[in-house]
Amino acid sequence: MDIVDLARFQFAMTTVFHFFFVPFSIGTAFVVAILETFYVRTKNEAYKKLAKFWGNIFLLSFAVGVVTGLIQEFQFGMNWSDYSRFMGDIFGAPLALEALLSFFIESTFIGLWMFTWDRVKKGTHLFFMWMVCFGTLTSALWILAANSFMQHPVGYAIKGGRAEMVDFFALLKNPQLWFEYGHVILAALTMGGVVLAGLTAFQMLKKDTTKEAKGLYKKSMRLGLWMAMIFSVGTILVGDFQMKYLVTEQPMKFAATEAIYETTGDPAPWTAVGIADTKNHTVKYKVDIPVLLSLLSYNKPSGSVKGMDEINAEMKEKYGTTIDGTKMDYIPPVNTLFWSFRVMAGFGAWIILVSFVGLLMTRKKKETLYKRRWMLWALALTTFVPFIANTAGWFITEFGRYPWTVYGLFTIQQSVSPNVSVTSLLISNIVYFTLFTTLAIVMIGLVKRQLQNDPTQMQGHGYADKILDPFDKGAF
Ligand code: HEM
Repeated sequence: MDIVDLARFQFAMTTVFHFFFVPFSIGTAFVVAILETFYVRTKNEAYKKLAKFWGNIFLLSFAVGVVTGLIQEFQFGMNWSDYSRFMGDIFGAPLALEALLSFFIESTFIGLWMFTWDRVKKGTHLFFMWMVCFGTLTSALWILAANSFMQHPVGYAIKGGRAEMVDFFALLKNPQLWFEYGHVILAALTMGGVVLAGLTAFQMLKKDTTKEAKGLYKKSMRLGLWMAMIFSVGTILVGDFQMKYLVTEQPMKFAATEAIYETTGDPAPWTAVGIADTKNHTVKYKVDIPVLLSLLSYNKPSGSVKGMDEINAEMKEKYGTTIDGTKMDYIPPVNTLFWSFRVMAGFGAWIILVSFVGLLMTRKKKETLYKRRWMLWALALTTFVPFIANTAGWFITEFGRYPWTVYGLFTIQQSVSPNVSVTSLLISNIVYFTLFTTLAIVMIGLVKRQLQNDPTQMQGHGYADKILDPFDKGAF
């Protein structure tokens, strides 16, 4: 492995790990806000207990998300200094806004929310939680504005070899941003629902559950399943728009996602499965469904789709056969994209299926779901599915941008720091890997410990009880 490979591996590892916690905290913050809204509207104490119970899981994911996010930012200076120089002017504004507005809002209101149960009016306490949600949602907007620029640069001018921002609002009007934001947020809310239903299923698998706890679990389960079903349908609908947008804006990414080397006939068939032979530019063992790709690409049963070979030739003509002395090939890793898409979309369909069946089984007062332990296991194991689907989604977005860091402007080769060495990268990779593994073990351990609690006994402020309460008399 050379410097570029090691730096890319490190960034991918950090980002994938960080992005486990981002949608998790966006999704669980929303779950808690909904549960507390139910409590305020119905005055039913069960919802208050549930809001506290799942609130503790949200706090855990938020804390780990912050730590991993900080580590991710180190990467820019350490391994990608030339990229940071090129993009600094563009990245600066959204990242500063994220820290100054969104992160401050999130942290302030999380603190207020944690320590003020029963100390302020119910409506005020609920307002704190919705502000936390607002913080998480705007935080994602700023970060994705920066990411969308990398996919589809807008509102900039190149001066002195750097991209300088000339129109901040162009960054916010970037169509890439709104597709990406819609898809990411709906996927995060899907994750919130799936995790709520899945972790509740783990609870329901326990044999010594009291009647009151069963009542709470059913409420959690139904909310989780409704969220999972509604938001996964939304994610898929936005995903479909995104797909069509790629056909015109990033045709190479689209062709790679569908493993099309040669421009298709009209109408275009959709390859359901296959293995790309990247040397000979063919696809082995493929199963084609006639006409479907035309339908998916253009919403009509006609139209051919450009293949990677043709697009590669066009890109060589447009951007050159070499950039800064490096021979260019514009074809991304085809099998990674092709299979990531199938994993992401397939898991989306699986989430809809299990949530629909789960909702049917919890419709009546009878304990149907408790008697179908296979279904409880299916739901419990589905907890991990959105984590995989989200990672697969990011694989498409980011690997599909190859060989660019900033599409059409700056390549991966140009982005890497000139003064990092293989040894320093190897060491930092090992350190980060060890750190992330430890954090993951701690996180899983803490979630398991929280799940051992009985939600019917949720009193006080949850985790906040274990730390100094700043509102207590004599705290300082
Ligand atoms: C049929 C269903 C789906 C379709 C057609 C679809 C489509 C897409 C496309 C085209 C991209 C790449 C966008 C780009 O590079 O600009 C993408 C990325 C992504 N997908 Fe999906 N998706 C589907 C289901 C899902 C599901 C179920 C999840 C998670 C629960 C998910 C999570 C993501 C994420 C996190 C990304 C990366 C961020 C982004 O570019 O939006 N997707 N998806």
